[in-house]
Amino acid sequence: SLPARVRIHEVGPRDGLQNEKTVVPTEVKAEFVHRLADAGLDTVEATSFVHPKWVPQLADAEQLMPLLADVPARLPVLVPNRRGLDRALALGVREIAVFGSATEAFARANLNRTVDESLEMFAPVVAAAREAGVRVRGYLSMCFGDPWEGAVPVAQVVRVARRLLDLGCDELSLGDTIGVATPGHVTALLTELGEAEVPAARLAVHFHDTYGQALANTLAALRYGVTTVDASAGGLGGCPYARSATGNLATEDLVWMLDGLGIHTGVDLGRLTATSVWMASRLGRPSPSRTVRALSHQ
Ligand code: HMG
Ligand code: MG
Repeated sequence: SLPARVRIHEVGPRDGLQNEKTVVPTEVKAEFVHRLADAGLDTVEATSFVHPKWVPQLADAEQLMPLLADVPARLPVLVPNRRGLDRALALGVREIAVFGSATEAFARANLNRTVDESLEMFAPVVAAAREAGVRVRGYLSMCFGDPWEGAVPVAQVVRVARRLLDLGCDELSLGDTIGVATPGHVTALLTELGEAEVPAARLAVHFHDTYGQALANTLAALRYGVTTVDASAGGLGGCPYARSATGNLATEDLVWMLDGLGIHTGVDLGRLTATSVWMASRLGRPSPSRTVRALSHQ
């Protein structure tokens, strides 16, 4: 059976823009977030409080957040460590995400740490955030495949997932960072997580669309009971530290499917598409989303 409603966790301003070569002006980012909230998205991941040299595109987090004070949506931000948390708390952030890896290679490339060291780095961050009443999402990258290590054993993913949740994360987002998953693999991982007593209600799915499987994977996850789905307006995105990662599942493609299934999202597809067309013109290239193209004759 399928859920009656799905919560979309919009990641365009963060996962989308972190990978852009041209630096998007802060005012344009602020308008992007406002327009996404106006289109009915109630969770918009706004930026990251990471090292500015690692992700130069998001180095303006301090300038951006005050411009979002009137946005009527939840605005989670990525935070890897204590320094990132302090920066976020100073700006009144109410929701953060730490981001771990199921593989050693990506933990090293993305966080300059082993898997164990990164969990040690996150532990005090999650504890301090919860102490401050801040909601914590945990991301787990490379759940289905890794560009350096290849296929990732399900048991290995389940082990790190369990550890992230045990740190105190309210929610865990399963990342197919390079977009190699297929629906059978998604079902296999969710089944194993269920057997490890991770309830579907605490899970989100985060698919990149490299092989065009993101929608099929999403449907498999919905059938399994997951009701939070990550997506990026216009299909923007990728990860600068993962070779061959393309954009996320496009929010428009997701909303088109969910509307067709009669599943409520609260998102106005026309407004959202107009926003992605506007953003594409700012970035100087068309959106890769099939739905954006079909609806805008772009
Ligand atoms: P490091 O070099 O090991 O840092 O990087 P360090 O702890 O050794 O500190 C070195 C210096 O950086 C110090 O300054 C710190 O203060 C400073 P110094 O004392 O030398 O002057 N520093 C910071 N400055 C500002 N903000 C901070 C911060 N932290 C340290 N937060 C670090 C470790 C984690 C910082 C680095 O590896 C990093 O920033 N990584 C972020 C990478 C990233 O953002 N990747 C993209 C997001 S993940 C993703 O896209 C996947 C996802 O979408 C899910 C999926 O698709 O799978 C979420
Ligand atoms: Mg991602």
